[in-house]
Amino acid sequence: MKRLFTNIGTLAGILGGDVLRKQGVEMNEVGTLHDAWLLEEDGMIASFGTSSDTLPDADQSIDCEGGMIMPTFCDSHTHIVYAGSRDGEFIDKINGLSYAEIAARGGGILNSADLLHNTPEDELYLQSAGRVDEMISKGTGAIEIKSGYGLNPEDEMKMLRVADRISQLSPAMVRTTFLGAHAVGRGYTHEEYVDAVCEMMPDAAEYADFVDVFCEEGFFTPEDAARIMECGKQWGLRPKIHANQLHVSGGVQAGVAHGALSVDHLEETTEAEIEALRGSVTMPTMLPGSSFFLRTPFGRARDFIEAGMGIALASDYNPGSSPSGDMRFVMALGCIRMRLTPEQAFNAVTINGAYAMGISDQTGSITPGKRADFIVTRPGWTLTKLPYLYQTPFIRNVYLLGQEYGTNN
Ligand code: NIG
Ligand code: FE
Repeated sequence: MKRLFTNIGTLAGILGGDVLRKQGVEMNEVGTLHDAWLLEEDGMIASFGTSSDTLPDADQSIDCEGGMIMPTFCDSHTHIVYAGSRDGEFIDKINGLSYAEIAARGGGILNSADLLHNTPEDELYLQSAGRVDEMISKGTGAIEIKSGYGLNPEDEMKMLRVADRISQLSPAMVRTTFLGAHAVGRGYTHEEYVDAVCEMMPDAAEYADFVDVFCEEGFFTPEDAARIMECGKQWGLRPKIHANQLHVSGGVQAGVAHGALSVDHLEETTEAEIEALRGSVTMPTMLPGSSFFLRTPFGRARDFIEAGMGIALASDYNPGSSPSGDMRFVMALGCIRMRLTPEQAFNAVTINGAYAMGISDQTGSITPGKRADFIVTRPGWTLTKLPYLYQTPFIRNVYLLGQEYGTNN
């Protein structure tokens, strides 16, 4: 089946198939063609060109009416498998309690663990799949999903099975992360729980692609993280790490030393972390939705880019620190609060997000041979307007593997 998209005002995100991530000055460039066409064949991008070419034959033709085509967003950090809501803590935060204070009172992640424990697996799936549908309709095509609200062997596996079911049934590309070390589970001492996380690893590895640790004061130390990351590697799980959200924790250095694919959060960053990341395979990943919601610093995105690195931006969609999976809003926060250019933010939410999930050879750009995962916008949209008109509906249709998904945006 060949489908030809014609009358594309701007085709954005064109990239060579050999480019797996963008770094430094490359972050300023977005491959673009105006007045273009694109051919999709059997779910993959086949070719593209401009209207001065002879158009290729196709079984079906779709007139984009001057709209933009761009890759779907690649959201490399989410916690969308959770039960219920934490809107009570939202009120606590308005009244002045910090994220750490709420956690120390037994709220926060432990609150979500209790809710998840009491929610049947099918119900957990329905709630979580609903969030995925919402994300796709807002233009996201690839999603990383973490465990970490189970905090005991049974409930962590329940989460990973739900993430796996989403991966099987959703048209989005899904990668799954075992974040057993998100908080110390109820009934364990700290040491017992770190042991328990390592013991969960073989079962977790049946479903997960990555292992992650919340390395933060009051949660897990860089030494805990090192042990858990090494254990994960023995079972074939590539490390990722939550580092420097609330404090300079040493987590960035631990992540780089253990070959983490990404170090995520980075609200608190010094020159030492920038130096540690320079020249590494690790993608600095920033989560401005969490900074916005928790009123914490937005981090030093531009400094990473000026030091020659790339960055990824992700939603961190979760009930406690970022209850939104809207990647266009993430892009807008990147521009407005982190002073990224629209081009830098675009690369951060597409190809570099894909890199941070290890899938940038398959999605995240307009590249012949990659999955036909793209957004067709309404007429008149440009790359700059995406974060500028950050609440105006912009999607006409979302395509995943060439299949029309639609939108309610
Ligand atoms: O990435 N910081 C740790 N984990 C999440 C928050 C999880 C929660 O509060 O439920 C985050 O912000
Ligand atoms: Fe997180």
